Amino acid sequence: MIKKNVSLLPYNTFGLDVKASHFASIKTPSDFRQIIKTAIQPILILGGGSNMLLTKNWKGLVLKNDFKGIEIIEKTANHAIVAVGGGENWHEFVLWSLSQNLGGIENLSLIPGTVGASPIQNIGAYGVELKDVFVKLEALRFETGRKNTFHKKDCKFGYRDSVFKKQLKGQFFISKVFFKLTNRNHKIKNSYGAIKEVLTQKGITKPTIQDISKAVIEIRSSKLPDPKELGNSGSFFKNPEIGKVQFEALQKKFPNLVFYELPNDQYKIPAGWLIDQAGWKGKRIGNTGCHAKQALVLVNYGGATGAEVWEHAKTVQQSVKDIYGIELTPEVNVL
Ligand code: FAD
Ligand code: EPU
Repeated sequence: MIKKNVSLLPYNTFGLDVKASHFASIKTPSDFRQIIKTAIQPILILGGGSNMLLTKNWKGLVLKNDFKGIEIIEKTANHAIVAVGGGENWHEFVLWSLSQNLGGIENLSLIPGTVGASPIQNIGAYGVELKDVFVKLEALRFETGRKNTFHKKDCKFGYRDSVFKKQLKGQFFISKVFFKLTNRNHKIKNSYGAIKEVLTQKGITKPTIQDISKAVIEIRSSKLPDPKELGNSGSFFKNPEIGKVQFEALQKKFPNLVFYELPNDQYKIPAGWLIDQAGWKGKRIGNTGCHAKQALVLVNYGGATGAEVWEHAKTVQQSVKDIYGIELTPEVNVL
């Protein structure tokens, strides 16, 4: 069951060739309990490897999530509760929901990775976050091997954040996630400017959930690099949130500042705009750089090491800090 000295190249979207001293793919709670008895440490849980930067070889166990299955466990006229194995591919689950005409996750089309990782950073895109459709999850505890259930309030979801990135980091393996999707009267979320533009271009005035998914796929494909062609992990940093005093001072200095107003006098500034304005967009340094169509996406042009990408990330971070006084926080898990 445990393989030794395994290359992680096929398992991470940055396309980095690091090795794991031990590697196991698990499909059931019983596999999990057997594996933890071996006591090989440290353990790295791997889903689709689409939100991690591997800077060195992993001396320990890589546990690949292959828990599968999609099941409607309850269906009323209005809703369906769907239970999904953590190792299912996220986008395939979205496509499945559309084929069943179940609504709620169409705006999250084309996000890479697994269902089991989706609660970790409360994935989000185009006005929807995982927490909007989340009911509960089942997770296996490393300490005991037992199954625990976490409801929405237990997960402490925030912007690209949850309890699994903070207090409970490294303690649980998410094996199953339960979603509440709409069966009719779908709530169409097309307030995002780019979605509206695509629908208008196509002459669609009453979009279906399938139309929204297609529009999101079109937008994403036009600016985000396909990891199969160009290694990346999506947005490298989170969009920073700043208070009113800092915001007003910044806007005075940079009148073209792009921002989104949040509740409680907070302002979100797009990190992509900051990095772009700092002159990094499309710049290549060695085998890495900032993508030409989206500066927030750091890329591997081929042959880059994780350490090289991380060095570049730190340079960009420092440059943004020097110009704007804002410290960018990585969204990607740097290992
Ligand atoms: P991995 O990268 O394998 O793991 C991420 C972290 O979660 C690691 O710390 C890992 O140990 C932990 N982990 C993974 N699975 C489990 C589990 N079952 N139990 C416990 N811990 C676990 N994200 C967004 O939110 N919105 C986007 O729009 C978006 N767009 C992207 C576009 C591209 C092109 C790419 C490459 C990435 C994008 N991402 C986006 C980031 C990424 O797709 C998500 O964070 C995704 O949820 C990661 O899933 P994964 O299975 O690949 O996780
Ligand atoms: N911008 C620039 N130059 C750039 C990139 C962006 O000026 O090079 C500007 C854009 O013009 C726009 C603003 O910055 O005014 C925001 O850009 P965009 O709409 O592309 O979205 P983002 O804020 O960069 C976020 C998420 C994405 C998510 C999209 C859509 C974060 C860190 N990123 O990106 O999530 O798909 O919104 O909702 O919140 C991810 O998490 O990996 C990810 C891709």
